[in-house]
Amino acid sequence: MSAVAVAANDKAFETVRTPDPEPRPIKIKASDVSVFYGEKQALFDVSIDIPERAVTAFIGPSGCGKSTFLRCFNRMNDTIDICRVTGEMLVSDANIYDPRLDVVELRARVGMVFQKPNPFPKSIWDNIAYGPKIHGLAKTKAEFDVIVEESLQKAGLWNEVKDRLHEPGTGLSGGQQQRLCIARAVAVSPEVILMDEPCSALDPIATAKVEELIDELRENYTIVIVTHSMQQAARVSQRTAFFHLGILVEEGPTNVLFTSPKEKRTQDYITGRFG
Ligand SMILES: Nc1ncnc2c1ncn2[C@@H]1O[C@H](COP(=O)(O)OP(=O)(O)O)[C@@H](O)[C@H]1O
Ligand SMILES: [Mg+2]
Repeated sequence: MSAVAVAANDKAFETVRTPDPEPRPIKIKASDVSVFYGEKQALFDVSIDIPERAVTAFIGPSGCGKSTFLRCFNRMNDTIDICRVTGEMLVSDANIYDPRLDVVELRARVGMVFQKPNPFPKSIWDNIAYGPKIHGLAKTKAEFDVIVEESLQKAGLWNEVKDRLHEPGTGLSGGQQQRLCIARAVAVSPEVILMDEPCSALDPIATAKVEELIDELRENYTIVIVTHSMQQAARVSQRTAFFHLGILVEEGPTNVLFTSPKEKRTQDYITGRFG
């Protein structure tokens, strides 16, 4: 029987979990989350606790469901017509699939940064001020200026752009554009930042800058990052979750997962036997 068939067979599969030596408070709690695209099931009963103010990495071969699972955290899957999500997902103990929930507000609390930097075709200043404007976080130009500066500072971009705030965001380098997108997410005071392969379009130097930034941001935000790079997961995350064929195979402290995985499939993946 394939792994998928086993999993579909009423949870015959159990995720292997290694707790943190000093567990942190839980920010996101997923219980038995399954995702379907039409008839096709992409995720099978995934349960995981995501700790607050730490970086959790999702790794696994292409097509294993990492992005699908990440998109459950701020209901981005709602935007895909054929997509259906079952199970429970709590952010700060509140059920984010509650029909009364304001999804726009959720996506400010749980921000997202995508694979390809996607600044709006507007000025750097407007890129940052846009979200706070929509959410009514500021009124006067001076208040917006403060948010713009603070957000760019937090994203490590202020010194590079402070003299060109009214030039288009799309005129920045790829790495700067990605930090602009992180600043844009930060501008609406999120609790969680989701990042889906945020460095895959960047060169090694820009990647190193974004990784440094992620390490700084974790002091104040809960970060979940999807990465196809095991080296990146090892560098930036405190916990790692390994997915295979829509199943969460194993999750634990990053150093444990990479140095002494408990599951054969994790071992095979991290030693490069497949993927
Ligand atoms: N919009 C979509 N419509 C239909 N199937 C999809 C869609 N997005 C992803 N899938 C399928 O769901 C599975 C998991 O995909 P994905 O979450 O993108 O994996 P990963 O991010 O790990 O590469 C794959 O089989 C993929 O083809
Ligand atoms: Mg993906």
